[in-house]
Amino acid sequence: MKYNVVLPEKDSLSHETLQKLKGYPERKSPDGETLFSEEFFGIANSEVWNGLSQDVRGRIHAELSEGLLKETLHIEMAGMAYANKMGLLSQNIDQRQVFCEFASQESRHFEMICPFVSEIDGQLESEFSQFVSGIVKKANFFEGLILVQTTLEGWGLHYYQELQKNCNHEALKKVFVEILKDEAKHHSGGLAMIEKDKLTDRDLFESSFVYQTLTTMAQSIAIGPLQLAQTVFSADSQLGRAELQKFLREVEAVERAEFKMNVFKRLVSKVVQPSVVEAWQREGMFKVLAESEMANLVSLGTEQIHLPKQGPSADASL
Ligand SMILES: [Fe+2]
Ligand SMILES: [Fe+2]
Repeated sequence: MKYNVVLPEKDSLSHETLQKLKGYPERKSPDGETLFSEEFFGIANSEVWNGLSQDVRGRIHAELSEGLLKETLHIEMAGMAYANKMGLLSQNIDQRQVFCEFASQESRHFEMICPFVSEIDGQLESEFSQFVSGIVKKANFFEGLILVQTTLEGWGLHYYQELQKNCNHEALKKVFVEILKDEAKHHSGGLAMIEKDKLTDRDLFESSFVYQTLTTMAQSIAIGPLQLAQTVFSADSQLGRAELQKFLREVEAVERAEFKMNVFKRLVSKVVQPSVVEAWQREGMFKVLAESEMANLVSLGTEQIHLPKQGPSADASL
């Protein structure tokens, strides 16, 4: 079956009619306030950041806030597609009903965030949301429970907790509180439906997709806040490598990546046997890059360095 995970909005003549059928209250956009503080992005006390002109800082700050929410919308769209797919693949009526409920909750999350985004772009996906879409399309029922329902939904739960704690806007903060109640159920529902012990070496050998996807997630966390660094350093061609390393130190890039890696490791430990997690630890799967290595991945001025594929760490996203 061919289908798209991310879809455009308002491209049909029946949009107004369908909007009524959804039965949601009318969307009301908030006035142009900044939704997330500079502290949230870890840049408030950075000398490199504060050395940029006010105009540039204002533009990047708005871009970061908006990017964060747009990515959230893509994730919710992926959640709708995922829950519908899992509903079709369900093996009993309980599972099907659960996934029908989850699909409707993801749809409501999408609707609640929409008013806070200036324009909903159903085409331009970030690398992170492309990565998630790829998992949704490829995973079978069991792989979906491991990768999406438990790991990514668990990651999403942590993500929304951070957004809720750091949001400046009261109405949006309330939206995150609502979403969090559902996301906690989505994550724990995955654990409840797995119906087998934690994954062994043999299971992971048999499902190389699970192993490869978890490895890609770990690698994308290990590279640190690249998108943030790239956005800031693309804005001013005068900034060089020394400033880049200073910036990464000031935003505590390594510590932040380590914190996220620990969240990821805890999630992996819920579905993979401890002996396997320990072996991965010894092999360096959960090791984050040093500042200088992170700096090598950011392009300055006219340099052309391609960012590695992003996983769940896309800084805005986590
Ligand atoms: Fe959601
Ligand atoms: Fe969810």
